[in-house]
Amino acid sequence: MFFPNSFVIALLSLTTSVASHPNHQHHHQHAASHIEKRYALETSYTASNFFDGFTFFTGPDPTDGDVEYITQFEAYLLGYINTNNNQVYLGVDNTTVNPANGRLSVRVQSNQAYTHGLFIADIAHMPGSICGVWPSYWMFGPNFPDSGEIDIIENVNYVFTNQLTLHTSPGCTINIAGSAAGATLLDSNCNDNNGLDGCSVTTTNQNAYGNYFNINGGGVYATLWESTGIKIWFFERGSIPSDITADAPNPSGWGTPLVSFNGGSTCNIDSFFANNNIVFDIDFCGDWAGQLWDSSPCYSVFGGTCDEFVNANPSAFSQAYWLLNSLKVYQ
Ligand SMILES: *[C@@H]1O[C@H](CO)[C@@H](O)[C@H](O)[C@H]1NC(C)=O
Repeated sequence: MFFPNSFVIALLSLTTSVASHPNHQHHHQHAASHIEKRYALETSYTASNFFDGFTFFTGPDPTDGDVEYITQFEAYLLGYINTNNNQVYLGVDNTTVNPANGRLSVRVQSNQAYTHGLFIADIAHMPGSICGVWPSYWMFGPNFPDSGEIDIIENVNYVFTNQLTLHTSPGCTINIAGSAAGATLLDSNCNDNNGLDGCSVTTTNQNAYGNYFNINGGGVYATLWESTGIKIWFFERGSIPSDITADAPNPSGWGTPLVSFNGGSTCNIDSFFANNNIVFDIDFCGDWAGQLWDSSPCYSVFGGTCDEFVNANPSAFSQAYWLLNSLKVYQ
């Protein structure tokens, strides 16, 4: 929650005035902590508890990918997940040629659902810029698109930048004023194509996605979901604000978000987003990567279909993994 400026100024002047009166030291500290700790840590997912808080989705891929999502037990036995070095590793089959039912992979979803919040993901590695791959870090609620969907990190095939998207039921139109330079809104209607396309934003920071993200040791994605909008910041590994590192995040000091999805009078965010679970997955081909295969550089180089490429080239997916340091949820 943002305090109105006048309230913050009142607190600051209170702080100044009581600081000169030692008798009021207690009040001074109370006022100061009120300013600095506006968000309280609700859940911290790390290597020690991540797989207790997330459940493996093992149904057929709702987006028609060339993928078979496997159970936690199977993924563990095959070495596609681990918690080595206090990091959460989520990977795929990078050795099998022509897998029977699509390439084996994982899709995990938080047991806890959230409405509003500040979600801070410290990510050391994400699936690289690889033909056929469709990685995603996202949130969604029941009865798509009625409870909304927030796609925080997502793109397909051989690309080097993030494309962020909201999906809603009819009636939500957003703008992206206040987003980082290079952000381009493809469609302001978050129900575009019955919600399937949504309001999507392309970005230009190559350190925020895929190969360059990984070369730089990843970074932090901070998603602030409020009644007025949904803002998503990206910080490179070397530029993470100290208040984030200190578990006392203060978004008002973070500067320009990568993308600011602004609701306001054209989209009452609270009418369109509720009870979202957090998801990490690694998909192949399907309704997005597969659809774009023919128009991607992948087709120019490899020809054929997306599925043919994915099935025949397991070693192409050696870098198709998530490595998470932590995911912290603040309210
Ligand atoms: C292939 O995948 C396994 C399991 O996900 C992983 O341990 C291994 O490091 C990957 N291979 C390469 C070359 O990255």
